[in-house]
Amino acid sequence: MTVPGVAGRTLLEADELSSIVRRFGQAISADHPDGIVLVGILKGSVCLIADLAREISVPCAVDFLALSAYGAGGARIKLSKDLEADVAGRDVVVAVDIVDSGLTVSYVRRLMNERGARSTDVCTMLDRRPRRLLPVDLRYVGLEIGDEYVVGYGLDFQERYRNLPMLVVVEPDTLRAADGGPDDPDEDEGDSRV
Ligand code: IMP
Ligand code: MG
Repeated sequence: MTVPGVAGRTLLEADELSSIVRRFGQAISADHPDGIVLVGILKGSVCLIADLAREISVPCAVDFLALSAYGAGGARIKLSKDLEADVAGRDVVVAVDIVDSGLTVSYVRRLMNERGARSTDVCTMLDRRPRRLLPVDLRYVGLEIGDEYVVGYGLDFQERYRNLPMLVVVEPDTLRAADGGPDDPDEDEGDSRV
């Protein structure tokens, strides 16, 4: 499938994403017979959460966290939307689109620990280790990638392309040019971290 305005290499097709998510669901269900709280980190995890929740065969509550970055270079993270679920004593599986620096996942893991979760496992579609700043323990990983920018299946570039059904490697400069260039006033804010 070609996508208008997106010149890139397809990393994972929709059917490949489906089989990865099916494997995630089977493994998570086998590892957590008592059930889980499945926590999606908005907005990048929307596609993964919707698909993954349907592949889980143990009791599964679905909840969401939203985070925003602040400080120099977006190096600090704060909660902008909290969970509704009480995770104390429960097994939490955190679903994310991609683990990059590791800041997001580290923040969420610490938060779950503080709130008394019995366990916290991370499930990520993509693992981009070359850019890691903090060491993180990832239990369920779809694909390891190199230092390349990816859109689709929940991942955005300036809030676009989350709705692509596949994952595509792109050159952000190409997308910026396709969007009208840096003179476009709507495009100057840059991409949010999460
Ligand atoms: P972290 O650096 O591990 O905290 O990742 C923060 C977030 O940045 C991820 O959850 C994504 O939403 C976003 N992100 C990182 N790399 C990419 C990318 O290649 N494309 C789109 N979003 C990304
Ligand atoms: Mg983003």
